[in-house]
Amino acid sequence: MRAIYLTGFMGAGKTTIGQRLGEVLQLPVIDTDAYIEQQVGKTITEIFEEEGEEAFRTYERETLKKLPTEHVIITTGGGIVIQEENRQFMREHGIVIYLHCELHELFRRLADDTTRPLLMENKQKQIKQLFEQRLPWYREAHMTIDTTNRTIDDIVENIVSLL
Ligand code: S3P
Repeated sequence: MRAIYLTGFMGAGKTTIGQRLGEVLQLPVIDTDAYIEQQVGKTITEIFEEEGEEAFRTYERETLKKLPTEHVIITTGGGIVIQEENRQFMREHGIVIYLHCELHELFRRLADDTTRPLLMENKQKQIKQLFEQRLPWYREAHMTIDTTNRTIDDIVENIVSLL
């Protein structure tokens, strides 16, 4: 089975859904952010602060190419789709599933979050701007699953039925 790539905005539930999907399908799950943190030995926030976003995007691009492309679920950072090269790589090597979440729900889910370096000030404005810019790129996925107002079990069941 080809790799399953879960994409979507920050707060869409990629990590949680990926973990549950991995249990159901009995597949290992690799998270690109966690992989980068482990390889670099810094948190995502530290990488942004000390090396800048460009350096992070380079780690992200290199990581995607290094990870297995068979029998694995890969949960990605929300910005993986920014780079055309990444979108193309995922589409060619696996099944890309976009976890969509409505803006009002993202506002709610991310309201108290302090772990995302891109959402430090003017949070709602930042979320809206990034979301609108990225939406066409997320939509290039093979499948779109709406996660707004749904339970994890329901979403996972939906994904499994479509595979
Ligand atoms: C980012 C999303 C984050 C992380 C980094 C940048 C983005 O991952 O990769 O903070 O550009 O949307 P999550 O989507 O897992 O929060």
